[in-house]
Amino acid sequence: MCGIFGYIGKNNAKEKLIEGLENLEYRGYDSSGVAIVQNGQVHIVKKAGKVCVLKDELMDSDINGNCGIAHTRWATHGLPTQLNAHPHTDSKNTLCLVHNGIIENYLELKSEYNLTTKTQSDTEIIAELISKIDEKKNLDKIKKACNLLKGSYALAVIFKDEPETIYLAKKESPIMVALGNDGVYISSDANAFKKYANNFYILKNNEFAKISNNNIEFYNKNKKINKKTNNIEKTFSFENKNKYLMQDEIMQTPDALKETALYFDNFKNIKHYFDNVDKIYLIGCGTAYHSCLLGKKYLEFLNVPIFTEIASEFRYSKIKPSKNSLCIFVSQSGETADTIACVKKCKCKTLAITNVPNSSITFNCKKTILMKAGWERAVASTKAYCCQLLVFYLIKCLLKNEKPKWKQLVSSCRKYLKKNNIKDISKKVLNFEKIMFIGRQEDYVTAMESSLKLKEISYINCIACPSGELKHGTLALVDENTLVILISTKHSLHNKNLLSKQEIEARMGCCFVASNIADSKIELPNLSSDLLPILSILPFQLLACEVCISKGYNPDKPRNLSKSVTVE
Ligand code: G6P
Repeated sequence: MCGIFGYIGKNNAKEKLIEGLENLEYRGYDSSGVAIVQNGQVHIVKKAGKVCVLKDELMDSDINGNCGIAHTRWATHGLPTQLNAHPHTDSKNTLCLVHNGIIENYLELKSEYNLTTKTQSDTEIIAELISKIDEKKNLDKIKKACNLLKGSYALAVIFKDEPETIYLAKKESPIMVALGNDGVYISSDANAFKKYANNFYILKNNEFAKISNNNIEFYNKNKKINKKTNNIEKTFSFENKNKYLMQDEIMQTPDALKETALYFDNFKNIKHYFDNVDKIYLIGCGTAYHSCLLGKKYLEFLNVPIFTEIASEFRYSKIKPSKNSLCIFVSQSGETADTIACVKKCKCKTLAITNVPNSSITFNCKKTILMKAGWERAVASTKAYCCQLLVFYLIKCLLKNEKPKWKQLVSSCRKYLKKNNIKDISKKVLNFEKIMFIGRQEDYVTAMESSLKLKEISYINCIACPSGELKHGTLALVDENTLVILISTKHSLHNKNLLSKQEIEARMGCCFVASNIADSKIELPNLSSDLLPILSILPFQLLACEVCISKGYNPDKPRNLSKSVTVE
C-alpha cells in the first residue's frame, strides 16, 4: 500500500526519490508523486499509474534539487487520479505533504474548520489544517494539527518558508529516518534504506522529526528527545535470476528455509513461554492465516484448545483471550493493520512470527520469532509461507524435545525445485473455466493456499473445498468445464480421496491427483508426514506463476492487491 520516501543531502534528489519509489513499488500502488525543492521553490510532479511514468517526466524536466519527498498512493479516498495523488498542498500554497494512513475524522474536520478542498483525499485536510494553525514554528503547527487528527498517519512535510527542511510525524503508520554517507533518507519501509545506510531511527507514535542537511532532531509532544538507532538487516543476498520476482522468490525457498532454521536457535527460550498456557490463538490474514491453520496442526499435541482466527474478523469479535492465553500473530510484513489491531486487543502472552525486524507487530508483541526468508517483494507470498510453516514445525520439535529434520527439508526442496515439471499441467489448467482444490486435513489447508495463489495472480475463479464436503454442495458445480486438483498425502486417507476422484469423473469433471504416494499427475516431494505440509504448496506456487505468465500477466503485481495491507 502507500509508501513514503524522502531525501535531503549532497546528491540530486530526483534520482534518489525515483529509486526509493521503485523500491516501494512492490507494496502495491496506483499513482505516485514527488515534491522537490529547487532554489527555494517547491516543484510538485504527480502521475496516475506506474512510477516509470513519473520517472520519464521527471528525468526529462529541469527540476533539480537536493531535498524532496515522494509517495506511492494506493487509493482509499478518491479515485487513483493525478489530482488525488500525493504530495498535497494547502490552498494558500504554504506547504506540501505526503501521507500514509487514513484520517478517520477528515469530514468532521472539514466542516468544523470550514476547510475547502480540491481533491477527494483525506490527506488534503491535513495540509489545510496545518496551514490554518497560528503558531510561529512549523513544528508546532504540525503538532497542533496532529492533535486534531483521528486515525493513522505517517507524514512528511515541506514548508515553503523553510524549504530545506523536512518534518515528519507519526501515529500508527511506520516512518523511519536513516543517515547515509551522502545525506538523510526517509522511508516508510526500512527495506528501501538497504543501499544507503547501515542503521536507522524509527519514530514511535506521537513523535516528530525535523530533518535538514545532515541534521536530524527528534521530538515528542512536549520536548526534544534522543533516539537510539536500529541496525538495517542486510540479509544474505538473493540474486535476481528470472524475469519475475515471484519466480526468484520460489527458487529462494531452500535458502530461506535454511537461514530460518539456523536463526531459530536464537529463540529457543520461547519454550518457557508455552508454560501454563491454557488456550492458544493463532491469528493472521491471507497466506499468513493459512500458516495459522497448519500451525494448529503442529501444536495440537499440546492438548490445549487452539483457535485459528482471521485477523479482520477477530478484531471485532466479542472474544477476549484470557490472561493465560497465548496469542501467536503470523505476518510476513509485520505491518498488516488488522493483525496489529488484534495484537492490541490481546492482553495476554503475545508472540509474533514475522519476516521483518522492527516492524509494528514486533514492537507490539511481547516476544518475536524472526524468520530469515529475505526480502519478499512479489505480492503473492511464497518463500515466507514455507518459512512460517517451518517455524511452527521447529516450535513443535522444541516443545517435544525432538531433533528437527530441517536439513532433509532443505535438500528435498532444492531437488524438487530443480526438477520443476509443472509447465505441462499449467497448459492444461488454461482449458478449464472452473478450478477446485480439494484435500483433507493438512492437504485441505494446502488446497486453500493453492486456490488463493492461483486466483490472486491469474484471476481464475477457483475455490478450495475439504474432500469430504464435496457432496454437501460443491459437487453441484462440477461439469466438463471443471478441473479438480485433489491433494492427497496421507496414506491412511488415500483410498477415500480416490473415491472423490470417481465422484468428480462421474460428473464429467477432470481430476488431477497431486500426491507423494502413488503414480500421480502432480508429484509432491517425498518427505515424512510432519515435513511434507511445509513443501506440498510448491507445485501450486509454481503452477499459479506459470498460469499467470502464460495469460500475459505480471505475477509480481496482481490487480487490486497490495503486498502490505497497512490500512483497514
Ligand atoms: C496481503 C498480501 C498477502 C499476505 C497478506 C497478509 O493480502 O497480498 O500475500 O498473505 O496480506 O500479510 P502479512 O504481511 O501480514 O503476512
